[in-house]
Amino acid sequence: MTVHFIGAGPGAPDLLTLRGRDLIAAAPVCLYAGSLVPPGVLAHCPPGARIINTAPLSLDEIIDEIATAHASGHDVARLHSGDLSVWSAMGEQLRRLRALGIPFDVTPGVPAFAAAAATLEAELTLPGLAQSVVLTRTSGRASQMPEGETLANFAATGATLAIHLSIHVLDRVVAELTPHYGPDCPVAVVWRASWPDERVLHGTLATIEGAMDGEIARTALILVGPALAAEGFADSRLYARDYDRRFRPTGANPRFPEGSA
Ligand SMILES: C[S@@+](CC[C@H](N)C(=O)[O-])C[C@H]1O[C@@H](n2cnc3c(N)ncnc32)[C@H](O)[C@@H]1O
Repeated sequence: MTVHFIGAGPGAPDLLTLRGRDLIAAAPVCLYAGSLVPPGVLAHCPPGARIINTAPLSLDEIIDEIATAHASGHDVARLHSGDLSVWSAMGEQLRRLRALGIPFDVTPGVPAFAAAAATLEAELTLPGLAQSVVLTRTSGRASQMPEGETLANFAATGATLAIHLSIHVLDRVVAELTPHYGPDCPVAVVWRASWPDERVLHGTLATIEGAMDGEIARTALILVGPALAAEGFADSRLYARDYDRRFRPTGANPRFPEGSA
């Protein structure tokens, strides 16, 4: 048997990969990480599957469920929201499975920051404005930020910030970022990106707190940076008429003459 770790995507059930869908449909056991995994994704479980919400379970209990399925020869679909590479608690589960000799594989999912950017119809890396996106968060009850990974340090780069798990401390986020980006820096808050009740708030570091209301809590992403509301950025060189490149050689002495490998 195999434990298939699957990124369940940001909310819309059709933002699941085809591979993820097929693995879920073939697994007689499905463990999913609470309410952020949409019911429409769980609907792919085969009839009669054992479907378990792991939100109330401890790590030991989750591994016990997997070990029991393993002993019965049953594949397990293990679902986490978004992608598995960020804030999924997959790392500690893989460590246990390696120690137990239980095989697993990993199928990526659409992360929340990509879904939020799609909602905003925004490219987060615009020429001359931002060429990096920092996926980060602030300290929570369960996880302290390592020294050095402060918002202020990331802000000093001027990159686009995608701040997770932090909407409840928006005031702190604004206070820490304003000295670096300035009060007029664009901010977007995307709540439940790709869910049917998704909402978007636009503002600046000076105005975003005033735009908030009680509904926007928990599953929201804060995006900050000059790329978010930019119109006056340069075109990329990649598609410039005079840019000599492998797939469109140009000029008297092209760098990649036609027919070159
Ligand atoms: C535990 S993290 C999970 C991140 C996930 N693994 C990913 O790839 O995006 C949960 C946080 O991600 C963000 N998030 C997850 N889904 C979201 C969505 N649909 N819309 C906006 N933010 C979301 C929120 O900041 C939330 O507090």
